[in-house]
Amino acid sequence: MRLIFLGPPGAGKGTQAARLSKHLHLMHVSTGDILRRAIAYETPIGMEAKAYMHKGELVPDEITDLLVRECLVRDGASKGFILDGYPRNLEQAKQLDESLDSVGVGLTKVIDFAIDPNIVVSRLSGRRTCPKCQTPYHGVSRPPLRDGFCDLDGSELEHRIDDKEETILRRLEVYQEQTEPLTSFYEERGLLTRVDAVGDADTVFDRLLKAVGK
Ligand code: AP5
Repeated sequence: MRLIFLGPPGAGKGTQAARLSKHLHLMHVSTGDILRRAIAYETPIGMEAKAYMHKGELVPDEITDLLVRECLVRDGASKGFILDGYPRNLEQAKQLDESLDSVGVGLTKVIDFAIDPNIVVSRLSGRRTCPKCQTPYHGVSRPPLRDGFCDLDGSELEHRIDDKEETILRRLEVYQEQTEPLTSFYEERGLLTRVDAVGDADTVFDRLLKAVGK
């Protein structure tokens, strides 16, 4: 199964991708997580991406196209994957087509997580993230077992720098301007399936399993 997860910031793409990749043994490729790791390790890519991410802007396509192409080639796209946060504009979608052609596979489905922007703002302002494994928590909907620390590796949870309200609003604008047009792009190809992202994570996961036919 080769999937793209679309949806605004805070729709729950990362949460559901982590669950589905475990359930179906798929590779989970999150460009946001890869970039945050690059920033943490102060790599040249991380240093270039940092300013864009902190402002809620997209990082340049050349960076994300290269990161995704490397993952697909290195880790074997034919075994199945979830692309979470990529592509984010039409140029990236075209680059993805080329990358997939080069490894000889196509997409199975594109899942669009549908949610009201007002819900997204409260989800993101309450999010705390593990800096090591990137697992997202939330004070109300997904509290960690020990307050302030990751259940999986014990790291101290952080408030993502782009989860400040003004940056969240900018990320939503960027999503509407640049990423939302991809829903028509994939709908025209008969690949798009919408999943209602409102409700608790278990309910959304059940809908997702139905949407992917599992
Ligand atoms: P990225 O990391 O991809 O962020 P995003 O798309 O803005 O998505 P989020 O991680 O904010 O939300 P999510 O939908 O994954 O929700 P989550 O599951 O965490 O990108 C960050 C930045 O990197 C971009 O702004 C850009 O600068 C750069 N970037 C990345 N990819 C790029 C690309 N391809 N091109 C250019 N630039 C790129 O959940 C959110 C919160 O809600 C959590 O607290 C969670 O616990 C909670 N939650 C989840 N599900 C539920 C539920 N059902 N009910 C209640 N709460 C829930």
